[in-house]
Amino acid sequence: MAETLLVVGAGQMGSGIAHLAAQSGLSVRLTDQDPSQVTRGLDRIRQLNQRAVDKGRLSADEAKALIASIHPVADIAAGAAGASFAIEAVVERVEVKQAVFKALDAHLAATAVIATNTSSISITQLAASVRDPRRVVGMHFFNPPVVMKLVEVIRGLGSSDQTVQRAKDLAETMGKTAIEVKKDSPGFIVNRILMPFLAEAVKVYAEGLASAEDIDTAIRLGLNHPMGPLTLLDFTGVDVCLDVMDYFQREFGLPEYAPPVEMRRLVRAGRVGKKAGAGFFDYPEAP
Ligand SMILES: NC(=O)c1ccc[n+]([C@@H]2O[C@H](COP(=O)([O-])OP(=O)(O)OC[C@H]3O[C@@H](n4cnc5c(N)ncnc54)[C@H](O)[C@@H]3O)[C@@H](O)[C@H]2O)c1
Repeated sequence: MAETLLVVGAGQMGSGIAHLAAQSGLSVRLTDQDPSQVTRGLDRIRQLNQRAVDKGRLSADEAKALIASIHPVADIAAGAAGASFAIEAVVERVEVKQAVFKALDAHLAATAVIATNTSSISITQLAASVRDPRRVVGMHFFNPPVVMKLVEVIRGLGSSDQTVQRAKDLAETMGKTAIEVKKDSPGFIVNRILMPFLAEAVKVYAEGLASAEDIDTAIRLGLNHPMGPLTLLDFTGVDVCLDVMDYFQREFGLPEYAPPVEMRRLVRAGRVGKKAGAGFFDYPEAP
């Protein structure tokens, strides 16, 4: 069934998901509490389309049709009529997402799915804000959604089989590979495995076993990864990864998820990575 999509939140991820959906021939409504974000998101999509037109990968008419299939709407109430599937991509704050879930629950048809693109918040906790948790599911896209092939579809405690299947079908309609995460657990699959790996790279560096560059080269060439773990850490932001590791440690209550002290030291020194200053790579000596 072709879903009619409502995307709530037009930041990095929301506008990327809207772009991806429009590219896949779906009709999309896009809303944000800050209307300038919708304008900015659409401008970004126009620029990307223009680049595709210049490279001959898209015709000018296709680019026009793509933009025309993304309908900016003032709010959830305006976007809900006729929408069969909502994806929430607002800021990563529980209370903000809960309010969005309540509004979606109030305005969407009872048969519409409510999906969240959260990276860390429990799907089950968000589902508790709606009357029927069977309609709620996690759909974790990766940045940028148009490029990255994976979607983690996460089953909350109350998600129905039908809801999970519709989320998988939608991901596949959008040309993605969906994997099902059968239990709602912190970090789902990718970040659960990634964070201890990044932490181990930091420990190896801090022990002075090799230079940062050599650690990254070892992983790139020895495991065929496109990017070394310390580069990836800087790229993502040492502060962002530290928050995730702190969250894992709280949730699992296990020492193996404890972030290395060197990461906290870097963050306290304001050395969080490429986005906002030097991280590991420009650090003169082991932190
Ligand atoms: N950036 C990533 O790499 C990435 C990857 C996967 C998942 N995520 C998740 O996607 C979600 C969005 O992240 P992002 O990077 O796009 O953030 P962002 O800051 O770029 O965008 C968030 C948007 O939400 C809007 N917003 C805030 N409150 C709102 C409300 N009540 N109603 C409507 N809109 C509201 C903001 O105005 C903003 O435009 C988060 O849950 C994040 O954890 C992010």
